[in-house]
Amino acid sequence: MTWDYLKSAKFYRRFDPIIDYLSGKTADKAIIDLDCGYSPILPFLDTDYGAYLGNDIIDDWGTDIEGTDKLVAFVKLTDVDFVDMIIRDGLEVDILLCLGMGGGDVRPEKAESATLRDSFLRIIKHGKPQIVITEGIQLWEQEYRYYSKLEADMPDYKRVEHHLIDCDPAWNDAVARREVRIYERITK
Ligand SMILES: C[S@@+](CC[C@H](N)C(=O)[O-])C[C@H]1O[C@@H](n2cnc3c(N)ncnc32)[C@H](O)[C@@H]1O
Repeated sequence: MTWDYLKSAKFYRRFDPIIDYLSGKTADKAIIDLDCGYSPILPFLDTDYGAYLGNDIIDDWGTDIEGTDKLVAFVKLTDVDFVDMIIRDGLEVDILLCLGMGGGDVRPEKAESATLRDSFLRIIKHGKPQIVITEGIQLWEQEYRYYSKLEADMPDYKRVEHHLIDCDPAWNDAVARREVRIYERITK
């Protein structure tokens, strides 16, 4: 299906700087993984977090979460409804992950969320996470200044890390060239 390439081991390379950065920072934290797909990063995270909650509209969320007694949950909701739920229920958000950003709000691609950007910014506004991490295709930055514009709408955050990663140099495809941006909150 559409997102199967994201399940291949080569594409796990996009997680390397995220896993390194989060190591030692997840204890008892509430992690929100927006439009998480299969939550492919979940098995790589330290399991000392307090809770992990992801959403997506897929039917077959199949990530193996055995071996942890933590609250790990997937909800089948659009990002708009998911953020409504977070706000309505007053859920904690310590760490916000927004991985595989598809640019659905700036280019026509019906498999990508056209509301992801707005939902992401709504979570930041209401949840005030201490750590925010974005990941996606470098081309969206080159074509749309996608991540830079997003950053401009996050005045309470400073970027602490920026990584450019080619997950599959032999493929030589823009889809494999990814970027990771990591932010920390600078105001309470
Ligand atoms: C490029 S994939 C990224 C998945 C995952 N975050 C990752 O990095 O592997 C985009 C995801 O957005 C989901 N999606 C598309 N429209 C959505 C919507 N309106 N609400 C929630 N998820 C949506 C798709 O089902 C897909 O899983």
